[in-house]
Amino acid sequence: MSQAIESILHETRLFPPSPEFAARANVSGMAAYQTLVDRAQADHAGFWLDMAHEHLTWHKPPTRALDESNAPFYKWFEDGEINVSHNCLDRHLDTQPDKLALIFEADDGKVTTITYRALYHRVCAFANALKAQGVKEGDRVLIYMPMSIEAVIAMQACARIAAIHSVVFGGFSAKSIQERVADAEANTIITADGQFRGGREIPLKKAVDEALAMGGCESVERVIVYRRTGSTVQWHEGRDLWWHDAIAGQPEECPPTFVSGEHPLFILYTSGSTGKPKGVQHSTGGYLLGAVTSMRWVFDLHPNDIFWCTADVGWVTGHSYVAYGPLALGATELIFEGIPTYPDAGRFWKMIQDHRVTIFYTAPTAIRSLIKAGTDLPRQYDLSSLRLLGTVGEPINPEAWMWYHTVVGQERCPIVDTWWQTETGCHMIAPLPGATPTKPGSCTLPLPGIAAAIVDETGHDVARGNGGFLVIKKPWPSMLRTLWRDPERYQATYFPNDFGGKTYLAGDGAQRDEDGYFWIMGRIDDVMNVAGHRLGSTEIESSLVANPLVAEAAVVSRPDDVTGEAVCAFVVLKAARPTDHAEAKRIADELRNWVTQQIGPIAKPKDFRFGDNLPKTRSGKIMRRLLRSIAKGEAITQDVTTLENPAILEQLTASAY
Ligand code: WT7
Repeated sequence: MSQAIESILHETRLFPPSPEFAARANVSGMAAYQTLVDRAQADHAGFWLDMAHEHLTWHKPPTRALDESNAPFYKWFEDGEINVSHNCLDRHLDTQPDKLALIFEADDGKVTTITYRALYHRVCAFANALKAQGVKEGDRVLIYMPMSIEAVIAMQACARIAAIHSVVFGGFSAKSIQERVADAEANTIITADGQFRGGREIPLKKAVDEALAMGGCESVERVIVYRRTGSTVQWHEGRDLWWHDAIAGQPEECPPTFVSGEHPLFILYTSGSTGKPKGVQHSTGGYLLGAVTSMRWVFDLHPNDIFWCTADVGWVTGHSYVAYGPLALGATELIFEGIPTYPDAGRFWKMIQDHRVTIFYTAPTAIRSLIKAGTDLPRQYDLSSLRLLGTVGEPINPEAWMWYHTVVGQERCPIVDTWWQTETGCHMIAPLPGATPTKPGSCTLPLPGIAAAIVDETGHDVARGNGGFLVIKKPWPSMLRTLWRDPERYQATYFPNDFGGKTYLAGDGAQRDEDGYFWIMGRIDDVMNVAGHRLGSTEIESSLVANPLVAEAAVVSRPDDVTGEAVCAFVVLKAARPTDHAEAKRIADELRNWVTQQIGPIAKPKDFRFGDNLPKTRSGKIMRRLLRSIAKGEAITQDVTTLENPAILEQLTASAY
């Protein structure tokens, strides 16, 4: 990138925490935040070593935090010995055995709960079952499960015996399973017969069978199947085993396998913009520390909270803030099998009401789709239990933020907009809700001990107000350790030589405002160059979403004879998609004027295309690469099998206004 990215949208609203919230917060007031930041700045490794001693239960405490001798292959707490499952379960047995650990609500509304003691015993029994089957420390276990208590048990059991799990999202195809099994050389798969989502039954075991039939999966010795739906499955004698048979007669005590702080806890595959998925490898001690400190700092977790993170365990969010973080802190958490719109778009709000949820964490894409489904719907439910709201996954447009704040949070709940990545393991830039005044659309300030900065292409800091590359200048405990068996790609992707080889490149564009607040401007690959101006996608999208007609928007660029590149906007309206040509043109003109007024003519989209929805990945991210092909008028050659809603491509390609 030869120039900085220009920031064009200005947000001036500021929301300090209420005195009541601040008074009882884990980190209360900006001075307390600053004290932590200063401590970390004065002694980075020492700060994290103190945190590790304070917040984790070690079998043998580490004597040293960080080993930088082989950068960027950093090591944290290597001489410490620890077990993640021991931290999540055993350490609560004396203090709160009868507290609820998990509240599970099934797709059909049926609720199942489990206490810490019961969860401990079920994890132990399943860990013993894995051992009895021959699963050993360091073996890779692929987990392809619906959201369920059993999915958490499967992950915890792997952690208990120091097997390395790799969870594959239940919405992914047989081909995705095959690729991940082959890359990780997993010897065990844990799956279910099927799952229920939105009233429909979706087979899971069938996809595993298909994957294993594709070849390249010879490493797999056993498939353990949890019975969820009760539907018929094909059975491979000698390879397949029912979960309930595997645990039959297994003792409900299983001593944890203590490992070095550096032992790999899991691999989680994340799709890169090109090439095969990257096997992001996380550690044990450092990873858990990040999950725990962020639960305390950002989610301000207190003993009586009911915590609900809506993410599936197939994503990193479902690792750090479902399977591990909340349990390590002894929280009660809600987990949900279904979808936000079934049986209707009030489901989330009803669940918050029924379970008296206090902390609610979801994605901007869910928020925008629920706004579209019924702006006033949340008002029909009692949301008075809520005290804190969070978002993750994409920039939240200020307009959606304000709706979340007023309609869901009833102007009472701080919003934590958490910037992080699969690779970072836990929150990196986010408000501390009892300290940081928030601004709609900004993820605010780095957590203590996180050296986030914005630099130009030579690695030098850019001036405040200028956009550039978001980087992390010092290693942090919960960072990825490498890409599974691909250290070269790890180094080239995240620690490129252009930036000195020791600075972590996040791949996002961002800017800092005069208060030092971070504003994510979108992925660097999505930056557009319009008449010599480098524009990020986020700000133009936020401007469009701020228009009363618009529910969702995505912008990309296409080549243009005059301006080099031109901005193309893909828009979902709150009302029905215009099918009449003149009407569509009128709305397009109105939106062009709007962007011109809000931002300036430089950002004005040249083309508008309307759809009932936008093409998204299964994790809810807009597929901008696909939109770029449409904008250019190219035939779509990309793999669209992971698309949530393939049918809408036709609408978007039809005509531009
Ligand atoms: C990318 C990471 C982290 C768990 C879920 C996604 C985008 C994430 C934010 C945010 C703006 C965000 C970034 C990042 N992103 N959170 N609060 N504001 N952008 O994990 O699939 O690894 O994606 O999601 O572009 O790089 P992921």
